[in-house]
Amino acid sequence: MQAIFETLINSFVENGVGIADNFLSRQLAGDLKNNLVRLSESGQMQPAGTGNRQLVSHDKTVRSDLIYWLDKKHNDVHENAFFVLMDALILHLNSSCYTGINGYEFHYALYETGSFYKKHIDQFRNNSGRQYSMIIYLNTDWVAGDGGQLSIHHAGKASQEIDPVGGKTVFFKSSEVEHEVLVANKPRMSITGWLKRD
Ligand code: OGA
Ligand code: MN
Repeated sequence: MQAIFETLINSFVENGVGIADNFLSRQLAGDLKNNLVRLSESGQMQPAGTGNRQLVSHDKTVRSDLIYWLDKKHNDVHENAFFVLMDALILHLNSSCYTGINGYEFHYALYETGSFYKKHIDQFRNNSGRQYSMIIYLNTDWVAGDGGQLSIHHAGKASQEIDPVGGKTVFFKSSEVEHEVLVANKPRMSITGWLKRD
């Protein structure tokens, strides 16, 4: 576990955007993907909004994904395994980088064919709790023509396009990094969340 944390953090320190290719085990990625598919089939995924949970607005010209929040109250064995991994990551970050993270929130995200999320940053204007953004992809068999890249806008440089390949995790500062999700040409699945300091 420590090795994959180091991979993610070292690439974050070097490039401003951390990437680790096999952050989730194949097993856990598959289990969480099955959860997402089940949630979708039972109609529990909801249109995502922009703004925080109190001040949310739903504008389909900005983003068109469907989400569902993970929660320890679900007592779902796979969500709990994911939380154990995140708890370990936070311990690692706080002890090696003095980040002072004291909370997190994660949701499943489904971009159905044709969905996207226009250029934005993740920190809210009225609440600076979100410190680091993480996206963990759950897609098996993603190929270039499937679109759906995460496009990172680095100031003064060409954008960086990241394919949403299963198991891959991306990590960046929520207050700084402008990014967007390009149109997905087939259903695109992930867990997205934020490490917080309140
Ligand atoms: C987000 C987001 C990126 C991605 O949900 O805020 O930017 O690659 N997601 O899914
Ligand atoms: Mn975002």
